Amino acid sequence: MQSAPERPRLAWAVTGSGHYLEECLDIVRELDEVDLFYSRAGEEVLRMYGHDPKEINSKSRVYRDRAASAPPVGLFYRGDYHTLVVAPATSNTVAKMVLGLSDSLVTNVYAQAGKCRIPSIVLACDTEQEIDTPAPDRTVRLWPRQVDLAHTHKLRSFEATTVVENPERLLVAIKLRLAEINK
Ligand SMILES: Cc1cc2nc3c(=O)[nH]c(=O)nc-3n(C[C@H](O)[C@H](O)[C@H](O)COP(=O)(O)O)c2cc1C
Repeated sequence: MQSAPERPRLAWAVTGSGHYLEECLDIVRELDEVDLFYSRAGEEVLRMYGHDPKEINSKSRVYRDRAASAPPVGLFYRGDYHTLVVAPATSNTVAKMVLGLSDSLVTNVYAQAGKCRIPSIVLACDTEQEIDTPAPDRTVRLWPRQVDLAHTHKLRSFEATTVVENPERLLVAIKLRLAEINK
């Protein structure tokens, strides 16, 4: 396991979503103390949009989903992180989080952050009835299903969890949290 950071950092989990991906990466690039946790699809999708998962923020440690038991959750037990951001969060990951499943790196860090009472901020892809979203080669119009929207809604009721609707609100929520941590 890597050595503990000097002070707790932000953990940022990226899932396999093209929607809001560029906006999220823009925020990650500007942060000083952030480590990245990728779902398997997150890594793949990032590459499809022309990014190298290891090169988003040169100061970040990068954790990839390679083991069944999600060993990096130990970093949350050790106190390495003050906050978890899951952004963008796919329909798939949000559904699992709502059901309490933890069978991937990202769903594990969300579950374990909750059990450690570490707050999470989630930017779910499915917050609107209709979205225009960037596929790698074109823009497509999608209509999230009722089940997807219902999961996002349900996640709002979870303890230690803030669900935001768009990247602008994500940035506000992160700034507020960092101000709270640094005061
Ligand atoms: C190019 C591309 C873009 C995708 N964009 C989205 C998206 O915006 N929202 C979404 O819910 N799933 C999207 N997916 C599908 C997810 O990657 C897929 O459901 C995957 O199993 C999610 O796994 P994860 O939740 O563990 O990251 C996309 C897939 C591809 C190939």
